[in-house]
Amino acid sequence: MNAIATASALTLPIFCRTAKLDSKKGLKGKFSVLAVFGEVEKKNAWSAIFDVEDPRSKVPHYKGKFLDVYQALEVARYDLQYCDWRARQDVLTIMLLHEKVVEVLNPLAREYKSIGTMKKELAELQDELAEAHRQVHVSEARVSTALEKLAFMEELVNDRLLQSRSTTEVSEASSSPSTSAKSFNEEKKRPPRKSLNVSGPVQSFHPNLKNFWYPVAFTTDLKHDTMIPIECFEEPWVIFRGKDGKPGCVQNTCAHRSCPLHLGSVNEGRIQCPYHGWEYTTTGKCEKMPSTRLLNVKIKSVPCFEKEGMIWIWPGNDPPSATLPSLLPPPGFQVHAEIVMELPIEHGLLLDNLLDLAHAPFTHTSTFAKGWSVPSLVKFLTPGSGLQGYWDPYPIDMEFRPPCMVLSTIGISKPGKLEGQNTSQCATHLHQLHVCLPSSKQKTRLLYRMSLDFAPFLKHVPFMQYLWKHFAEQVLNEDLRLVLGQQERMNSGANVWNWPVSYDKLGVRYRIWRDAVERGAKQLPFSR
Ligand code: FES
Ligand SMILES: [Fe+2]
Repeated sequence: MNAIATASALTLPIFCRTAKLDSKKGLKGKFSVLAVFGEVEKKNAWSAIFDVEDPRSKVPHYKGKFLDVYQALEVARYDLQYCDWRARQDVLTIMLLHEKVVEVLNPLAREYKSIGTMKKELAELQDELAEAHRQVHVSEARVSTALEKLAFMEELVNDRLLQSRSTTEVSEASSSPSTSAKSFNEEKKRPPRKSLNVSGPVQSFHPNLKNFWYPVAFTTDLKHDTMIPIECFEEPWVIFRGKDGKPGCVQNTCAHRSCPLHLGSVNEGRIQCPYHGWEYTTTGKCEKMPSTRLLNVKIKSVPCFEKEGMIWIWPGNDPPSATLPSLLPPPGFQVHAEIVMELPIEHGLLLDNLLDLAHAPFTHTSTFAKGWSVPSLVKFLTPGSGLQGYWDPYPIDMEFRPPCMVLSTIGISKPGKLEGQNTSQCATHLHQLHVCLPSSKQKTRLLYRMSLDFAPFLKHVPFMQYLWKHFAEQVLNEDLRLVLGQQERMNSGANVWNWPVSYDKLGVRYRIWRDAVERGAKQLPFSR
């Protein structure tokens, strides 16, 4: 409807039509929009908007046939093309009617018309406008049906991906020499089902997962003389600033006798071991060895950069990619809180949890979802086959950003009432970034950044940062006891993705993406 409002507000006298308006049948065929001022007959820039071919002649004829997924997708695509064409015709109809209204009300023309004639003309136009608006509503309904169809197709494609995955797993298991005859028969008997296999115990990290840029700390937490010890992929690292002020990341183990370096201090851009005082630069080179002759010693370091308020490292062996992703909130938002937490769960389980909203009315009953009703249907709708979309019926947009980030924008209408509006309809929003850094097998370093597009004064309220931290911890604690329980079950062999349903779409996609990375797939699914 926004497009229509915009179109109606245009200076319409510059348009003239080359096709006749028929209020009963609507506008047929192609339209050209011509400039009245300047070169007559020369199409102006707007003509491109309306000069679109009616796609109906090209629709493939599958009537009465059984369609495979790809044919069905093609039909859904043509449906959307038709909706697009139809919407343009609707806008043009309203623009032309608007033009007529302007003509009728033209003060020059008014001199030659009686009030009665004008009233009659305006009443007719009003009828035509009402008809055009009705047509717009029909088009709106068509668009939502077409989108639903597309979402359904998408689910079919997802199911197919899951099924082909479980088939591969079954055949791999059956060809494995260690598989007993009993389990083979059990696999054979079991009907193919939509499940992923994420069963325990928690495995060591696959090295392919390391070949990404990982945010590991917030810039504000790293002063010129402080250190941030982190664990990443089961290795201890320490981050500090060099002489030039740029951050570096070296192994958190002294080359001399393995003392943790972060227990020491930073002097003139070098980290000093607290045991015998050896000093290392941000590249890991030992530049000072007090009380003995300086030897050529170097400890491990990884590429480390600072961007948009975060420190990033590349823990993998492959050469780092040239660009660091951006994790800033959209324009108009201000960062209000940056919180770091060390959690005793595997990062994949935490991501599964963060990518799921359907659990909110059951799990977060003391915090943000207090008083929420349980909707009859919760869906995650992805406009493209990607890793981002929005939750229906909640005004929440969400994205999984590889390798371990979740971004979400939550529309806030009334406190505690989230249902029934989409994100853009809400006047105020909260934007969240969750980074789930894989620390060790059952540990995650969570970086949480919260931004708002309202109440900027809250930034200057003393102790507000503590209050935000308290809220964030409360919400997370509601999840933690459940995810810890899942982890326990997983360690005893349970599959945490045994029975995915429609609202699990984003979590399932994350698992499909991760599986492809670990298999070393050349083309990663859902990549933009
Ligand atoms: S252990 Fe670090 S200097 Fe000796
Ligand atoms: Fe939760």
